[in-house]
Amino acid sequence: MTFYITTSISYANGSPHVGHAYEAVLADAIARHQRAFDEVFFQTGTDEHGVKVAESAAARGLTPQQHVDEIAARFQGMCDRLEVGYDRFIRTTEVANQATAQALWHRMSEAGDIYLSDYEGWYSVREESYFSDEEVVKENGEVRSPNGTPVVWRSEPSYFFRLERYRADLFQMIRDDPHFITPEATRNEMLAILREPLPDLSISRTNFKWGVSVPNDPDHVMYVWVDALSNYAANPQHWPADVHVIGKDIAKFHCIYWPAFLLSARWPLPKQVMVHGFLTHNGVKMSKSLGNVVDPMAEADRVGVDALRYYLLRLTRLGADADYTDDGVVETYNSELANTIGNLAHRLVSQVHKHCGGVIPKPVEDLPQDVALFDRLTELRVTYDEELDKGRVHVAIGEIIAGANLLNAYVSEEQPWALRKTDPQRADHVLFTALDGVWNLGLMLKPIIPSGAERLIASVGGDQRELPVVPPAFPRLEA
Ligand code: MSP
Repeated sequence: MTFYITTSISYANGSPHVGHAYEAVLADAIARHQRAFDEVFFQTGTDEHGVKVAESAAARGLTPQQHVDEIAARFQGMCDRLEVGYDRFIRTTEVANQATAQALWHRMSEAGDIYLSDYEGWYSVREESYFSDEEVVKENGEVRSPNGTPVVWRSEPSYFFRLERYRADLFQMIRDDPHFITPEATRNEMLAILREPLPDLSISRTNFKWGVSVPNDPDHVMYVWVDALSNYAANPQHWPADVHVIGKDIAKFHCIYWPAFLLSARWPLPKQVMVHGFLTHNGVKMSKSLGNVVDPMAEADRVGVDALRYYLLRLTRLGADADYTDDGVVETYNSELANTIGNLAHRLVSQVHKHCGGVIPKPVEDLPQDVALFDRLTELRVTYDEELDKGRVHVAIGEIIAGANLLNAYVSEEQPWALRKTDPQRADHVLFTALDGVWNLGLMLKPIIPSGAERLIASVGGDQRELPVVPPAFPRLEA
């Protein structure tokens, strides 16, 4: 069975920011790790329909299609640059997705879960959502959404989905399967939502055309979430997904609405929704208006892809928010990759060049401390595997660094450079053992920083005994 993992699909409104990069890199690390055990299918992409996208296009004097073509290319370009190894970059405007969305609609309709009525409320064009009379803020004769955007009272015909019908089943499923939503805090939030009756969901619009039309009623287009969520099932040969990786702001859509649609359509449910937190920048929420959004491409130019990927995954605890700082990305790279791992590798390699003619010496005989080191590294590796599977990538990276610390301590303790004069055979054995350890760290780094890990592995010989003369794998960055 192929392991199928997805990210959410990003709105084709603006450029990618570092939050999008984080999600893509997180899913990529899990996908790459899983590839060691399984066939993997990894899908990411863009969410291209809706009134906001049409408006952004118009504001730029472009057709919606021209606009989304350009933005999708930017997101895809970000993935390529950051070594995000997706198998498919899906766009909701693709025929395959439109067909899936219509098939899904058709099935939900056949199940008797869709009906036509009127939708009324305070509508914010900017937020593309309705607010109830209790939610809006009325001040000085003006009405605004809770987020401060202007709203107008509006009524329009809309199709509705009978969400309440699936509440009890969803509650039971989420309660009985602790694996379905991770982390635990999000699972509890979703259970809390499911304890109260759920209003039916408005799932179509008539006020814009840039969308997937509703089967048998072309005046309506699907409200973005139906045709956005359907992207995941647009690969029927792989569905159901093993993991949806998403941000906390869209947990309800993925943990409640999406499974409800699937139950209605009698399509299989995804096995897990993995929910990550939000990044702030130097302590401040990122927003276009504040002009403090971190551009991952510019960041890759400034610090390199290894430093960026490593920091994103090292900084964040699954589910929790984290603060991205301009100095933090450089310091984390310098301290952990350049110093702890890179210097160790470099020192060992220099000794091989100096004393062993550039050829990794053969092992001689293990002493108890060598066996102990090997055992500890094996234990770390087991924890690393388990934690990566759970999406707790920062813990898995912690195991890599713990391994590097053990190796550094081993080398300081054994002093191969001193042994060279007294017991050259033992010096050889220590060099061999330590280089083998670094090679293992390189393997563990592969899902985190794919090309950096390859360079590290190559610098300690890969599966060759003869070491190439190469620059350090992780040169220091100047802040
Ligand atoms: N198009 C919808 C998702 C549809 S999935 C069927 C959407 N797009 S988005 O572009 O706004 O967000 C894409 C992903 O980026 C979401 O998972 C969101 O949580 C994540 N992030 C957006 N801003 C973020 C941060 N500041 N930090 C971390 N992730 C953030 O929602």
